[in-house]
Amino acid sequence: MAGSPALRKELGVFAGYHSAQVDVDVRLNTNESPFPPPPAFLAGLADAVASMALHRYPDRSCTDLRADLARLHGVRPDQVFVANGSNEVLQCLLLAYGGPGRTAAVFEPTYAMHGTIARMTGTTELKGERSDDFSLSLAEVRGVVRRGAPSVTFLCSPNNPTGRAEPRELVEGVLALGPGLLVVDEAYAQFAPWTALSLVADEVPLVVTRTYSKTWSMAGCRLGYLIGPASIVTDLWDVAALPYHVDTVKQAAGRLALRYTDEMENRVAHLVAERERVAAALGRLPVDTWPSDANFLLLRPRSRPGSEVWQDLVDRSVLVRDCSSWPRLAGCLRVTIGTTAENDAFLAALEDVL
Ligand SMILES: Cc1ncc(COP(=O)(O)O)c(C=O)c1O
Repeated sequence: MAGSPALRKELGVFAGYHSAQVDVDVRLNTNESPFPPPPAFLAGLADAVASMALHRYPDRSCTDLRADLARLHGVRPDQVFVANGSNEVLQCLLLAYGGPGRTAAVFEPTYAMHGTIARMTGTTELKGERSDDFSLSLAEVRGVVRRGAPSVTFLCSPNNPTGRAEPRELVEGVLALGPGLLVVDEAYAQFAPWTALSLVADEVPLVVTRTYSKTWSMAGCRLGYLIGPASIVTDLWDVAALPYHVDTVKQAAGRLALRYTDEMENRVAHLVAERERVAAALGRLPVDTWPSDANFLLLRPRSRPGSEVWQDLVDRSVLVRDCSSWPRLAGCLRVTIGTTAENDAFLAALEDVL
């Protein structure tokens, strides 16, 4: 056999979703927590690892972790599915309910991985549009659902990268459109005023996805989950997840983290206060900004192209996300809320650059 194998045709047309990994002092580009996990968590994890039977496969069903997550959210363990980051949860959903001949609805601008994973799994992307202020109208969703009868509809609440949580009435309205599966991606839920979790029930085709990557300071662990109807959780376990896909160390880390809920909530409160401070400071600079219910802010410099501003910030050792080539986001940048010192460094560099 000579040469490289041919990629599936539909995969050749998009580049992966990658944020630059540049060596800088201030990294505000991937919406991680700026704080490492609490020292006691790391010590507890080291102790747990020391006595782990790593020569054995992990508990395939993640029994204890699911029980703990169920307790946290007031649901049953059979309503919890766990995977390696919420991206893998989304991939499992599309492996099970998307695929060739089916469509998944996304509303631009939104989290690019929804569309990317759709294409990876052979699912046709059905695109709707947010309004000029980036809100989403039920009429737009209704139009898309009527046009394409999606098997899966994605909402992202708060929406990455524009920042706002979807109102409860919109989520309820979309659910009423039926009959496909509604996925509400709540990667940033802890920063937001409400969650769609209360709408989850066994007879409702709704799943809510969550991650340990943001508020739990565990992006390096790759752990995410969904809460949804037991029948969907069973499907995912049966047909989409590989055997033993969540390793023993990660299952222990996920359980241990939940003992630090108070610390997590304090950090969220601190980041929300910092978000408002940064937003107010941006209001005094020549940039357009949008309100945010998450741990990031979208901004558009008025006087200079976004990509140039991005490079000038990198040159000052500050890394933000360059969204300027994304659909509907010409000239835009997204900044993650960091520590007070990081936010000050970002604001000083931005002022300098502008
Ligand atoms: C909206 C949204 N969903 C999911 C993810 C992926 O999270 P994870 O690290 O759990 O795969 C992200 C990460 O940036 C995100 O912004």
